[in-house]
Amino acid sequence: MTVTEQPTKDSPPPRLGMHTLTAGRGLLFGGDYNPEQWPEHVWVEDVELMQAAGVNLVTVGVFSWARIEPEPGARDFGWLDRVLDLLGSAGIAVDLATPTASPPPWLGHRWPQTLPVDESGHRLWYGSRNQFCPSSPVYRERALALVTDLADRYAGHPALALWHVGNEYGQVCHCDDSAAAFRTWLRERYGDLGTLNDAWGTTFWSQRYSDWDEIVTPRRAPYIVNPTQRLDFSRFSSDALLAHYRAERDVLRARTPDTPITTNFMGLFKPVDYWSWAPEEDIVSNDWYPDPADPLSPARTALTHDLIRSLGGGRPWLLMEQSPSAVNWRPHNLPKPAGQLRLESLQAVAHGADGLCYFQWRASTFGSERFHAAMVPHAGPDTRIHAEVRAHGAELRRLDPVVGTPVPAKVAMVHDWPSWWALEERGRPSDRLTLPDQLLAYYRPLWERGVTVDLVPPSADLTAYELVVVPNLYLISDRDAAALTRYVHGGGVLVVGPFSGVVDPHSHVRTGRFPAPLREVLGASGEEWMPAPEDRPVRCRWADGTGFTARIWTELLDAEGAEPVAVFTEGDLAGRPAVLRHRAGAGTAWYVATLPEPDALGELTARALVDAGVTGALPELPPGVEAVRRGPVLFLLNHGAGTVHVPVPHPAEDLLTGSATGDRVTLAPRAVVALRPLG
Ligand code: GAL
Repeated sequence: MTVTEQPTKDSPPPRLGMHTLTAGRGLLFGGDYNPEQWPEHVWVEDVELMQAAGVNLVTVGVFSWARIEPEPGARDFGWLDRVLDLLGSAGIAVDLATPTASPPPWLGHRWPQTLPVDESGHRLWYGSRNQFCPSSPVYRERALALVTDLADRYAGHPALALWHVGNEYGQVCHCDDSAAAFRTWLRERYGDLGTLNDAWGTTFWSQRYSDWDEIVTPRRAPYIVNPTQRLDFSRFSSDALLAHYRAERDVLRARTPDTPITTNFMGLFKPVDYWSWAPEEDIVSNDWYPDPADPLSPARTALTHDLIRSLGGGRPWLLMEQSPSAVNWRPHNLPKPAGQLRLESLQAVAHGADGLCYFQWRASTFGSERFHAAMVPHAGPDTRIHAEVRAHGAELRRLDPVVGTPVPAKVAMVHDWPSWWALEERGRPSDRLTLPDQLLAYYRPLWERGVTVDLVPPSADLTAYELVVVPNLYLISDRDAAALTRYVHGGGVLVVGPFSGVVDPHSHVRTGRFPAPLREVLGASGEEWMPAPEDRPVRCRWADGTGFTARIWTELLDAEGAEPVAVFTEGDLAGRPAVLRHRAGAGTAWYVATLPEPDALGELTARALVDAGVTGALPELPPGVEAVRRGPVLFLLNHGAGTVHVPVPHPAEDLLTGSATGDRVTLAPRAVVALRPLG
C-alpha cells in the first residue's frame, strides 16, 4: 500500500466501518474488559453494572493468550464462550481481541528467538508484555494458529461486533531474524548493493558494504550511526509490524468478512507510520490519555483527534482507550477533576468519534496496572468516578443526531512520519527543534480560533483546502515539493515552518540555497541555520514596528520576491527576514524562519487565515473555549478555569440538555454544549 492509496474525503464509503457498529446502537460506550482477572460471579455483577451504565461495547481478550493456550497447542475457550454468551445475552457487543500482544512465557522459554532484542543486543524477556519480534517466523506461526482457531470459534457469534488485532503495535527488534528481514526489505527497495551504498552514503566513515550479509539493523555502535540506515530501519520496522498485522487481519477477514477490523493506534506515535496502516483497517481507533497536569492538553488532544479522523479519510472513528481518571504510568498521576471525564469524551465526539471506550472496566487488584483508574474503581460502583461514568453513558443517547456526521475542515496540516524520523536524528544543528512541538505550535492558534484542521500526508490532494500549514517538512521529495508549489500557484495559501525542504528521501542534504525545492514558491532562500542561545530570546519586529520574541532557531535568509513581514532586530541577523510572505501565482506562501512565541504565531496565523478567507466556527471565542462544528451541531467546550459567556449566532437547542439557547451561552468550567440550530 502506498500513500497514494490513502482514503480521501471523496472516496466512496467502505462497506464496513463505524456505521456497521453504530447501526441500531447509536454512539458506542464501554471499555476494556478483562474478566479473566475475576471469578465468574463477578462477571454477572459486571454485566448488570454495564447495562445500568449504558455500556454497549466492550473489548475482551487483549491479554488472554496464556489463558486460551496454557501450553503449546492446547486450547481453552470454555471461559471465553461463557463471557461472550453472557455479554451477548445482555445486548453488549464485543470487540474481540487477538491476544497476540503478550505471548505466554512458554513461547519465549522454548523459542527465545521470538523475544525482541534491543539495539544493544539485549533480549527483552517475558514477565511484562509486548515481548515479541514482529519478524520471527515462530511467533508468526504460533500467533496465526491461535488467531485462526479464535476466528473459527467465534465467527457468527451474535456478540462479536469488531476485531481488535493485537494491541498498540510498536515493538522494534534488532535480532538476527529482524536483520535478515531488514536485508530482504532493502533488496526490494534498492535492488543492488551499489544503489544501497549510494543511498546510505557509505563512503562516509568507511561504511561501504561488500556483501548483503554484512548489513544489520542499526545496532548500538561507538558513535553516531548512519542516518539513512536508521531512517530505512524506521521504515522497515513500521512495515514489519504492518506485515504481521496484515497476516492476522487476513485470517480474520477470510473467516468473518462482515465483521470490521481495527487495531488501536496511539496518536502521534513515532515508531509507526499510520498513513500506511490506516487504509488496512475497517475502522481507525485510538488510545489517548491526556495528562491532567499538562496545560496544553486540550489543544494536544484536539490535534490528536484530528489526526485520527484524518487517518480514516474523515470518517467516524473509535476512541478505544482513555482513562476515567488517573493513569498509573506517569511518575506522578493526577486524577481527573469532576466533569473532566465527560469534557474529554465529548471533545472526541466533537472531533468525529462515534465511540468512546475506556481502559478499563473494573480496576485490577494485581499486576502492573492495579493503580490505574477504572470505570468500576476498587471502592466499587458507589463512587464519584462510577457515578460520572453512568451519567455520561446515559447522556450519550441524546447525541444520536451527530452519529455518522462529518467534521468539515478547510485547513490542512501536513504530517509525515519519515520526515519526523529523519528530522530527529542525531547530529543536526539543534535537537531542540522537534516535530511534535512544531505541530502543536502551529495547530494551537488555529484551534484557539475555532478553525478545524485535517492532517494530511505530503502526497495528499490539497485542492479541497484553503490553507495548508507545514510546521516542518525537513525531508521532502521533489514531487511533493512540486505539489505544494502548484497548490500555491493555483490560489492556495501555504505556511511553512523552519528547517523544511532540507533533505531528500535518502536524507541527503539538498545543495544550493535552502529550502531548495521550495525556494521559488517561498520567494526567499537561505544559506545558514543558526540556532540561538537558549538563555536569550530572539528579538523580532513586525513591519508595523511592534516587537515579538522567538526562541531557539534562526536562519540567515534573503528575500527573493517575498515581502519580509517581520525581521530579526539584533546581532548578525539584524534587519534580516524572520517571517516572509510571497504572492506566487494566484496564491500566497509564508515562510517562518524561527520559533515565534505563541502570541506572535497567533498573529501570523490570523493573517494567513485572512489571506485564505477562512474564519473560525464563531467570530468571538473566550480563551479556553473550543468550538468545533460536526454535522449540524456546534460543540462548545470550556477547558478554562472560569465561567464564560459565548455569543452564538442562532437560537439553538442544546442536545445534551434539551434546553433552548438565546443569543449567548454560559459555560461553567468543564461545561459542554452541543448546539443544533432551531428552525
Ligand atoms: C494502553 C494499553 C492498555 C493499558 C493502558 C493503560 O497503552 O493498550 O492495555 O495498558 O494503556 O493506560
